[in-house]
Amino acid sequence: MATNQDNTDKSPEQTRIRIFDTTLRDGEQSPGASLNFSEKFEIARQLELLGVDVVEAGFPITSQGDFEAVRAISQELERTTVAGLARCVPRDIDRAGEAVKDGKNSRIHVFCATSKIHREHKLKKAFEQIVELASKSVAHARQYTDDVEFSPEDGSRTELNYLVDVTAAVIEAGATTINIPDTVGYATPAEYGRIFSYVREQLPVIDEKGIILSSHCHNDLGLAVANSIAAIQNGAKQIECTINGIGERAGNAALEEIVMALNTRSDVYNFATNIDTKRIYPVSRMVSNLTGLHVQRNKAIVGENAFAHESGIHQDGMLKNRNTYEIMNPHDIGVPESKLVLGKHSGRHALKDRVIDLGYTVDEAMLDKVYDAFKTLADKKKDVYDEDIEAILDEQLESQRQLWELARFQISSGTGVISTATVVLRDSSGAEKMDAATGDGPIDACYEAIQRITGVVVKLEQYQTRAITGGKDAQGEVSVQITHRERKVRGRAFSTDVIEAAVRAYLAAINRIKLPAEEPAPVDQP
Ligand code: KIV
Ligand code: ZN
Repeated sequence: MATNQDNTDKSPEQTRIRIFDTTLRDGEQSPGASLNFSEKFEIARQLELLGVDVVEAGFPITSQGDFEAVRAISQELERTTVAGLARCVPRDIDRAGEAVKDGKNSRIHVFCATSKIHREHKLKKAFEQIVELASKSVAHARQYTDDVEFSPEDGSRTELNYLVDVTAAVIEAGATTINIPDTVGYATPAEYGRIFSYVREQLPVIDEKGIILSSHCHNDLGLAVANSIAAIQNGAKQIECTINGIGERAGNAALEEIVMALNTRSDVYNFATNIDTKRIYPVSRMVSNLTGLHVQRNKAIVGENAFAHESGIHQDGMLKNRNTYEIMNPHDIGVPESKLVLGKHSGRHALKDRVIDLGYTVDEAMLDKVYDAFKTLADKKKDVYDEDIEAILDEQLESQRQLWELARFQISSGTGVISTATVVLRDSSGAEKMDAATGDGPIDACYEAIQRITGVVVKLEQYQTRAITGGKDAQGEVSVQITHRERKVRGRAFSTDVIEAAVRAYLAAINRIKLPAEEPAPVDQP
């Protein structure tokens, strides 16, 4: 049995596996995880630095925001391919094509369900009709780019002969990557691996033309990572995954788990990726902070407890030799060795270094704003921790491209009085609008006034508040989840004044509401 210390010699014959990150698309489909333009843009930049081969940046037909994000990201990234998702519908493909056509390395990812249950109940189409639709759509997408991926949705539950037929047809139509998703996380590793070997055996054209087979696994049974690895053991050369495993329902295969399994057990798995593992931890934190999806403490690789040793026997073993209880070195995934604390005497340079270590890219203009916010905070509290700096950075990303900004507010509240709030918001043209309302407490009154000003009617589903660090001068974080037209949207804000944080969190959620591409602004008239 090998140990982690035996893995340093990499075989020259390792097969290169492409990492296709869909945090910004499938990951963003996690309920409540909607990201705004600036947040998507920053995550995409960090994914490129992490070394992913493909970033699926969004589903351009679904909203103007997604369209703009995919477009901007495809023009920004230098080495990473940027994909936009489209159903087999001409306007979807045109929208995805428009979004990526000026990018440096662009892909259109077209999908259509092929399994019996989806054919009969969702699409109400015969298999032959689906094959025709898929082929036409791939050919349509090829008008925009030579890099076209096709996914037979619910592929793992599709009859194998049908999977082969649709794969052959879309390759003929010009698809260069075929992704076979385990859409509902139902497959077992042996079954999923067999699908790949079978399709390859039946279609020699795959290897002849250098077509890439790809896995895309959901985690409903907790098998997403195991299934992804089974796929590459059977000929897949691309894995689709997300940071922290976020995604629809139980999520997608977690990028960090796949990469660290391949690295740590390279004595068993002869595969290499381009991932710079030292960037895993900062990107994980950023995705968790910006999506509001907290990483469970015991999550493999990036959870708070992943490298914590509680029992005396374990601690004793660790002191004698780390390898007794640690199969990976936390340093290799970028876990900071010690927590650095800044304060009001820390300069701009120290702040900049810390910001970079936390995994953010900031230009000088952004650094100015972050520095101002840091100074203001450092005047209010003695020690400024990483969590405080992340909060400042997240708020700066949040505040870019906002439709509504808080100008000021005033509340009147107390025991035996009706709570009232006067709120003034600034719209994107700079014009101020004011309204006042009463409510069950000062926060409710503020929320009512905001709804009156913006005209956006939402239901408040969740409201949470916590201190982000220790100490009585800690900043309060408020996170809210609202529902707008059956879609859950989240907002978060920080302040040493918790009512101000509550008001800004609510406004952040309203600013995140995405409307279909055709609609110009998120306004519902009540
Ligand atoms: O899970 C799935 O089938 C998908 C497809 C769009 C690839 O996300
Ligand atoms: Zn999926």
